[in-house]
Amino acid sequence: MNATPEFLYPESAPTIPPETQLNLNVRGLRPSATLAINEHSAALEQEGREVFRLGLGQSPFPVPEPVVEALRRNAHQKDYLPVKGLQVLREAVAGYHRRRNRVDVRGEDVLIGPGSKELMFILQLVYYGDLVIPMPSWVSYMPQAHMIGRQIRWVPTRVEDGWRLTPDGLERVCREDPTRPRLLILNYPSNPTGKSYRSDELEALADVARRYRVLLLSDEIYGELHFDGEHRSIACFYPEGTVISSGLSKWCGAGGWRLGTFAFPPALRWLLEAMSVVASETFTSTSAPIQHAAVTAFEGGEEIDAYLRASRRVLKAIGPWVAAGLRESGVHVPEPDGGFYLFPDFEVSRSRLAMRGIVSSEQLCSRLLDDLGIAMLPGTAFGRPATELTARMAYVDFDGAQALAAAAAVREGAALDESFLRTHCPRIVTATERLVEWLRH
Ligand SMILES: Cc1ncc(COP(=O)(O)O)c(C=O)c1O
Repeated sequence: MNATPEFLYPESAPTIPPETQLNLNVRGLRPSATLAINEHSAALEQEGREVFRLGLGQSPFPVPEPVVEALRRNAHQKDYLPVKGLQVLREAVAGYHRRRNRVDVRGEDVLIGPGSKELMFILQLVYYGDLVIPMPSWVSYMPQAHMIGRQIRWVPTRVEDGWRLTPDGLERVCREDPTRPRLLILNYPSNPTGKSYRSDELEALADVARRYRVLLLSDEIYGELHFDGEHRSIACFYPEGTVISSGLSKWCGAGGWRLGTFAFPPALRWLLEAMSVVASETFTSTSAPIQHAAVTAFEGGEEIDAYLRASRRVLKAIGPWVAAGLRESGVHVPEPDGGFYLFPDFEVSRSRLAMRGIVSSEQLCSRLLDDLGIAMLPGTAFGRPATELTARMAYVDFDGAQALAAAAAVREGAALDESFLRTHCPRIVTATERLVEWLRH
């Protein structure tokens, strides 16, 4: 029998650093920026500092009661479930997409996973193509591609377009090598900007994607949190090439439950099958009680609709209020359409910030945390250049259950005003005011 190679034991081979034994695609990667800021914030809080948690993008709202009740009823479910997901849940998710997005999805075209993030990783693993993403994009698409060894094409966007992908921008990338396989991930309402796309804009992007046979992953995890409930899926315009990604994490307030869904067109069944092979050799199946409870969430009903209306109302009161406050001090902030993020650009304060030694988005966020206790994520985490002064604010540091209850007492249809925010989202108001004051000095 061969002796165990010595290099497996770094202490007996001090000249070989342990990290040299890591897969080259993983070496040097740091934990996800979102999780890192949360840990840093927790450490400051332990020292007794007040921290405004505007870093991690977690829903502030509780899971709707009928869904919690369904989980209670299903706590005893203990068997492994089919790798593609519980059949009734796959049917419920298909029904949800038919009802909400007017896209003809069938149960056998749905894949359930432990979070949409995991499904995205597996998709990138099985699909042989470059990853194409607008700059800025959510923090994890790029590291996933990097780990797998895929090429990454960032598509430039402009502040005037609300940092959104344009058909021209996509066309420019595709034209370079028209037949190259590509996976485009489009996320709207967007993390980090809160911006969405109008139907005509989706249609124009769909035309380019179709022309170049781009595989489109439409990340619609914030779709239900469109402020006016008017989310539209690009799958309506490019049904044959779009996979819709969704899950419980954002609209259902259940990030920690870990349940994500992919809905495929029938023509992409081969992709679903390939992904389920990988799933069968990795996570096996998603937690049984959670899948049973998710049936209630995706089947919906009046109570869940009311919960969604109230969530949207609260978010619609906060996002535009904070954006307007920042704009008063000259900061450029795209007007959000949904979700719970803003992506301010502090360029207007560049010279004043430079005098304080701040010339990059990382320095900006680190000083905001040290000086004001405000946790935000630097634009670099979303692919923006290091010296650009952009940052993402997740306006979720408030008691969501209390805010929903208070919103229910205000006549439906009436906007929630500033006094509502001061009473029920006081930490968001204080953080905004402190930030504006800090910029002035
Ligand atoms: C844009 C976007 N996509 C996907 C995810 C992943 O969600 P989950 O894995 O919880 O389904 C997140 C979570 O923060 C997100 O912001």
